[in-house]
Amino acid sequence: MPHPLPPSTWPSAAAAEQSALFAPLRLGALELRTRTWIPAMVPWRATEDGFVTPQVLDWYERFARGKPGAIVVEATGIRDVPSGPLLRIGHERFVPGLRELVEVVHRASEGETRLFLQVIDFLRIRRRVASERFLGEFLVLRDAHVAALQKLARPVTDEPSARRALLELSAPELESVLSPRELQELTHGARETVNDLHLPHVADLPRALPPLFAGAARRAREAGFDGVELHYAHAYTMASFLSRRNERSDGYGGSPRERVRLPLEVLAAARREVGSDFALGARILSDEIIDGGSRLEDALFYAAELARAGLDFLSLSRGGKFEDATQPKVGEAAYPYTGPSGHECMPTVHVRPGTPFGRNLAHAAAIRAHLRSAGLSTPIVAAGGIGTFDLAESALASGACDLVGMARASLADPDWSAKVRAGAGAAVRRCKYTNYCEALDQRHKQVTCQLWDRAHDAPPAAGTRVARSADLKRRLTAPPWERSSAEADPRG
Ligand SMILES: Cc1cc2nc3c(=O)[nH]c(=O)nc-3n(C[C@H](O)[C@H](O)[C@H](O)COP(=O)(O)O)c2cc1C
Ligand code: SF4
Repeated sequence: MPHPLPPSTWPSAAAAEQSALFAPLRLGALELRTRTWIPAMVPWRATEDGFVTPQVLDWYERFARGKPGAIVVEATGIRDVPSGPLLRIGHERFVPGLRELVEVVHRASEGETRLFLQVIDFLRIRRRVASERFLGEFLVLRDAHVAALQKLARPVTDEPSARRALLELSAPELESVLSPRELQELTHGARETVNDLHLPHVADLPRALPPLFAGAARRAREAGFDGVELHYAHAYTMASFLSRRNERSDGYGGSPRERVRLPLEVLAAARREVGSDFALGARILSDEIIDGGSRLEDALFYAAELARAGLDFLSLSRGGKFEDATQPKVGEAAYPYTGPSGHECMPTVHVRPGTPFGRNLAHAAAIRAHLRSAGLSTPIVAAGGIGTFDLAESALASGACDLVGMARASLADPDWSAKVRAGAGAAVRRCKYTNYCEALDQRHKQVTCQLWDRAHDAPPAAGTRVARSADLKRRLTAPPWERSSAEADPRG
């Protein structure tokens, strides 16, 4: 049985004005008008070569019209390499498009919303190939394979006969012949990790990444963003450095201090580039969830180290790892939000035990308390199943966080902030937390919400046009808030 959505009482406009949620907050040199925060969400609307498109502008403009305190623009690649329809900022040529995006958001929110850019690095991942191709072609044959085959009494005279023998093995036999890494590549597709020091570009990450992140942060500042969020969370390079599974032996892995070394060096390099008057934050995991991964106690240490190093905000997430992802189909790549850690990252109404609603707040509270007890005032952003005013307000009142992240709740209704602030909370289109949107993300399809179309089956009014997805079936942005006279904004 799915968990029912929690009941919600919505404040009057006057009560909202007095609330903690709609109170301002300082992030370093920057003031946020309210504490509503839309965390990064990739909508798959950039061009194949990473540029801002009119659809990207429409997507963020739609969020900005709801006037949240902050929007974090989707994970944006810091390298100048092809990465599919993900935004990129690895070269000056990306700046004009991003500048237009900033202008659109500032204009649509009438200056109420601060815009951050999430900057990301990720390692190479390959699609899963059929066993015949993997064993017959891709697997690098080693003496150990030949010895193991001979132990199984398989005749091996040369490479073709070894490959033929491998193809005839049963699953348990294959497990005894292949290394755990090779088995993983066979079942889930090959994937680089930060432990692959034999690969020169992986060994070189501690030299390569600080200037790449710093360059991205500088360009974000040039484009007019109010701040940058360093993506140190989920399945990507920087989170892998923070992971307990980071076993690098070059001074950047092993102990917690060595694991946080590169994240600190990246932060320092970015700070040198953007100066002290530009908001620089990071998103980390309060728990990786996977076996052998980092736990809350690691996150406490990382949070304090990063805060001491001058981070202006710390956004928290949980899980979202490749290590426990489900097996992709042949021809597809593993997706880090399919396994138990993924279910913690974007919890649905089917999650067990507990409910998705405010699921990550206990960890956020522990991290915030740890920082405060160390005299560190870095604002904390929490997210995970927060969609009601009551929960947002109690998260702030209880000291779990300073800013309330609402990703899917804002996707379902980008006017969440505007409605609640105007005393029209009852008109909020409430997220169902069943992850239709996330399934689209998984297939790299344009992300939309299942509730938008349902609410607006009627054809658009004459003379208007509703932008549709590539398959023409779904509207690409949320329907407008059609205010009744009772919902008129009392602030005009
Ligand atoms: C479609 C989609 C795309 C996402 N893309 C990102 C991303 O680019 N970077 C990131 O840090 N988190 C990403 N997330 C995770 C959200 O920022 C958020 O942490 C998660 O959805 C839990 O918050 P919620 O319960 O308020 O939705 C994405 C989530 C969704 C649903
Ligand atoms: S698609 Fe479902 S989970 Fe996603 S925002 Fe809409 S209602 Fe929420």
